[in-house]
Amino acid sequence: MENSEKKNYSIGVMDSGVGGLTVLKQMIDICKNENYIYFGDTKNLPYGEKTKQELVKIAKKVFDFYAQKKVKAVIMACNTTSATAYDELKNDYDFKIYPIIQVVSKCLSMDKNIKRIAIMATQATVDSKKYSAELKKNNPNIKVFEQACPMWVPIVEHKLVDFDEKEIIKTKLDKVLEFKPQKIILGCTHYPYLLDRLSKYANKEIFINPAKMFANYIKEDLKAMDLLSERKEGFVEYFASSEPEKFKENAKLFLQIEKQPVLVNI
Ligand code: DGL
Repeated sequence: MENSEKKNYSIGVMDSGVGGLTVLKQMIDICKNENYIYFGDTKNLPYGEKTKQELVKIAKKVFDFYAQKKVKAVIMACNTTSATAYDELKNDYDFKIYPIIQVVSKCLSMDKNIKRIAIMATQATVDSKKYSAELKKNNPNIKVFEQACPMWVPIVEHKLVDFDEKEIIKTKLDKVLEFKPQKIILGCTHYPYLLDRLSKYANKEIFINPAKMFANYIKEDLKAMDLLSERKEGFVEYFASSEPEKFKENAKLFLQIEKQPVLVNI
């Protein structure tokens, strides 16, 4: 197919819920004239507590959904599926797939001043050790510490306010700080929402929300492949696999969306 036709195809953005909107927001900021298809797999959330086998099955269904659409690329905004399912599925589709962990680790490991880095992520992401492996590819001497943060995703998706912050947030962060990292990657798209709480216990500057770095890389890569859209304006279509009205409400945490997502059964 000619690039001239393909460049105006949409870009898919997938996550388990509203967290991936942190990435979509950055993409819209720098590539306004693209069309996006956002898919929030709210039915299967939280991904972080699922097995690799379950996550591969789920990610395949999400990619099959995109295969029926005209997409030139799918952004795997979700760290958990990038860690567990990307390697299994990367060769099965004819659109480009951008996995967040692999891209962000590549960008960060270029900075040789970073010698100690920590990651706070879901249980499945931490169990996969994918961040460690990817960061060490370009920078074998880098010291990496990975900390799982159970409950953080439900706190965001269910907008919980009344929880034991000391036990659920501070103790996890304390373990990370003991490692004396120069930087801490928020290795789950939902976590930037907790940045204000985290900043009570550590300098805000230590945390990396990788969404912007990720979006910049994708823009440059699409440009290099001559796949940036030529249309004047773009729009976003939203899909969710359950409770679209709740998705619209929760989306406000990251991005104001006008229309309720279309319910889609995967
Ligand atoms: N937000 C996703 C991630 O970046 C998955 C969170 C979840 O559903 O557990 O890992």
